[in-house]
Amino acid sequence: MEERRGRRIIMFPLPFAGHFNPMIELAGIFHHRGFSVTILHTSYNFPDPSRHPHFTFRSIPHNKEGEEDPLSQSETSSMDLIVLMLRLKQCYAETFRQSLAEEVGGEETVCCLVSDAIWGKITEVVAEEIGVRRVVLRTGGASSFCAFAAYPLLRDKGYLPIQDSRLDELVTELLPLKVKDLPVIETKEPEELYRVVNDMVEGAKSSSGVIWNTFEDLERLSLMDCSNKLQVPFFPIGPFHKHSDDHPLKTKNKDDDKTTCWLDKQDPQSVVYASFGSLAAIEEKEFLEIAWGLRNSKLPFLWVVRPGMVRGTEWLESLPCGFLEDIGHKGKIVKWVNQLEVLAHPAVGAFWTHCGWNSTLESICEGVPMICTPCFSDQHVNARYIVDVWRVGMVLERSKMEMKEIENALRSVMMEKGDELRERSLKLKESADFCLTKDGSSSKNLEKLVSHVLSFDS
Ligand code: UDX
Repeated sequence: MEERRGRRIIMFPLPFAGHFNPMIELAGIFHHRGFSVTILHTSYNFPDPSRHPHFTFRSIPHNKEGEEDPLSQSETSSMDLIVLMLRLKQCYAETFRQSLAEEVGGEETVCCLVSDAIWGKITEVVAEEIGVRRVVLRTGGASSFCAFAAYPLLRDKGYLPIQDSRLDELVTELLPLKVKDLPVIETKEPEELYRVVNDMVEGAKSSSGVIWNTFEDLERLSLMDCSNKLQVPFFPIGPFHKHSDDHPLKTKNKDDDKTTCWLDKQDPQSVVYASFGSLAAIEEKEFLEIAWGLRNSKLPFLWVVRPGMVRGTEWLESLPCGFLEDIGHKGKIVKWVNQLEVLAHPAVGAFWTHCGWNSTLESICEGVPMICTPCFSDQHVNARYIVDVWRVGMVLERSKMEMKEIENALRSVMMEKGDELRERSLKLKESADFCLTKDGSSSKNLEKLVSHVLSFDS
């Protein structure tokens, strides 16, 4: 590892796994290049710093110190994502300013702030005021960002808000997307959704550069399109988690060992791994259809059901009596797994996913074909690219999630279509592997990023 003393990078992730994970992986990449890293993190969802001993963590308190937490579990459990995002910005804007000013005022030279693109304006204004350069991390893919950046046009042309009668219409300005693939989030505050998206895009435009967890061979055209729109330096250096074997999310616990033990007993490429990420919630009826679909497929399955993921229930209590005994050792249901480990396991034959960007990229990196059930936001765009552009998966629409459809889709991806999907998935994995070799695009872009960041304080 190179030594770069006195060069500190301050990072400000959004406090959700799908955003925190890539930020912490990026922190590992910078650390490996000799930078020291401070993570400013909201007190909301504050991570366990002992899991990341290489970095300094600082908790940013909410603005109403001394008063009851405005983002306590009981307050946030009924909020939609956009309302929660707004609250986060309101609750932490001022305390973020104070924390950043203190960090920058310290003895060590601070190269720059790396903030999640979704923080948008608050980081822009504060960084400018304090006089520190700001680079943005976009944790999602470039293809979905193009669609977010096109919101004003999509509204002008009447594609947004989405009308049920137009769902299957092609969006000619954003091929191959259809209207139903546009990245929207259901919310009580639709105008606020437009504002959050606009804030993200404008915040990226005014930054000193955008870091992407993607690679050129995967999203070349979309990256070019975004680059034309934003006109700032671009650094597609993904997949982050593949830069080094010793990355920050590799730590395992006892339950992970049990899962690996179970996978070790399964035949190669025989298991369906099902998980819908860290945020998506489903109705009890959907949960039961999934349970029966998995069981009836007669395929071995590993299914992540996060506590609270099924609305109105705690965990598995709505499963019919005897269900777990009936599936026996054929299926395993867990609360959380080390997904990187699971996808890399030779027993896993397909990933039934909600198509969050991290899950998509992680699956691509292991050459695992996908069954795509997008739930909201960029997931719809990612699913369209997985199925129609990279052709490494099949779609199973959420509206069609009935046990028979599920059983058919799972068996089709694992059997009839299995060979051709696996072949293409392995090709794509090869290009992911190549981008991180010495001559690969992500390695070269990382060199450029390091020089770029170092040029800030010269
Ligand atoms: C959210 C959005 O939903 C997603 O669309 C966006 O691209 C990023 O933010 P999330 O829903 O959590 O993310 O999905 P995803 O992007 O796939 O991230 C989930 C992360 O949690 C992945 O890194 C995955 O490896 C990890 N994970 C998930 C686990 O480690 N264990 C699990 O059991 C489930």
